[in-house]
Amino acid sequence: MIKPLHRQWESFSKVMKDLMQKIVSLAKRRGFISPSSEIYGGFGSCYDFGPLGVEMKNNIKRTWWKEMTRLQENIIGLDAAILMSPKVWQASGHLTAGFADELVECKSCHKRFRLDEIKNKCPECKGELTKPRKFNLMMKTFVGPVEDEASTTYLRAETCQGIYTNFANVLNSMRLKIPFGIAQIGKAFRNEITPGNFIYRTREFEQMEMQWFCQPKEAPKYFEFWKKERMKWYVNLGIKKENLRIREASKSELPHYARSAIDIEYKFPFGWKEIEGIHNRGDWDLSNHSKYSGQDLKYFDEGTKKKYFPYIIETSAGADRSFLTFLIDSYQEVKGGRTKTTEAKKETEVLLKLDKDLAPIKVAILPLVKNKAQLAKKAKEVYQLLKPHFTCQYDELGSIGRRYRRQDEVGTILCLTCDFQTLEDDTLTIRNRDTMRQERVKIKDLVKVIKEKLNTQ
Ligand code: GAP
Repeated sequence: MIKPLHRQWESFSKVMKDLMQKIVSLAKRRGFISPSSEIYGGFGSCYDFGPLGVEMKNNIKRTWWKEMTRLQENIIGLDAAILMSPKVWQASGHLTAGFADELVECKSCHKRFRLDEIKNKCPECKGELTKPRKFNLMMKTFVGPVEDEASTTYLRAETCQGIYTNFANVLNSMRLKIPFGIAQIGKAFRNEITPGNFIYRTREFEQMEMQWFCQPKEAPKYFEFWKKERMKWYVNLGIKKENLRIREASKSELPHYARSAIDIEYKFPFGWKEIEGIHNRGDWDLSNHSKYSGQDLKYFDEGTKKKYFPYIIETSAGADRSFLTFLIDSYQEVKGGRTKTTEAKKETEVLLKLDKDLAPIKVAILPLVKNKAQLAKKAKEVYQLLKPHFTCQYDELGSIGRRYRRQDEVGTILCLTCDFQTLEDDTLTIRNRDTMRQERVKIKDLVKVIKEKLNTQ
């Protein structure tokens, strides 16, 4: 069962708690995100992305993919299977203590807690606690009809392992030279002990990872390079600079595979938290996979005629955490209303100032009034005209002011209104979400004009 929201956010300040409640409520009400299996009371801190959520998440992934493959000189993509040989997870170190949380169990209610999060009594029933034990985060499953040790494998806990096992395939099929990168987006699973803060920490999530293979001596240079590039990505998509920072991991915080690591952190309402990790993984992965698989995963340098294990600089972002970051950072409330209509003056209007590449709906098409059949017909024709080019929504319910507000609340970039003049001269108004300025445009020019405004091809 999902913890009630008031329990999840007990420790936050009131304002921040309110903000999170508003974001969660908006996400649910407007079809962005809802708990998985909600009709059964939710399940295991997993979430579903609704009609607007899936559009926005796809936009985030598409933007990342474009940035990390198409716009780069030397990075190609991959889509590896989620289920892999269990040997992969032995080689990677995920089945050993490196990928485990220290847990204590309450002797009376048998609930488990992370050692770093509690004092010396059970926070639920004040019962006595056991000594700490390591609890592995890998999600176990079985492949084939027999559920025994031999058929046991794991849902991947990070997407990058599929990149390492494909290193030689990609190198040979694409005839690449070092330095180069391999990018991948996909689901990852962790049996998190303390999931929470909405979609911040879940048990099923999506990662957007890029592994950069380079000469060992060049690893520090590329570590710095990718740190800057990745920070720029968030800023270019509208995240406020003051809400981002870089935190260096101390020696004791380093993941088991990393020589050095930083987190890109965002100032969430529940504190500064990691949204992306940049890691210098050295030759940990390729050398271990060589050892465990018996395959030679060294790179042959044509120039020096020497073989070596390339070092890996990894950029590892979460699609879900980015989603939450974009949602929170773009959320604005305008007291007294931005539309200045009489009804709006009494309300607080919500504006989701999402970047135009991320907004789930680009264009809303609205007939000025519903009960004028010719207007609705014309607006539907415009909707059909634009649908193949942009993510559009047709809306005829409620007053025009209310409909603008509904679109602002989900970050729609442009609102097109068919009014009585449309029926005379085939023009309509385009309202810009941010400036709220309206201009008249000929319907025949719409596709071109909107493409220019959205800066898409
Ligand atoms: N391959 C390296 C790696 O997986 P990580 O720091 O464990 O590194 C990278 O994870 C990113 O994946 C995090 O910064 C976060 O965005 C996302 N992530 C990790 N665990 C998550 C969880 N339980 N829920 C949501 N996102 C998660």
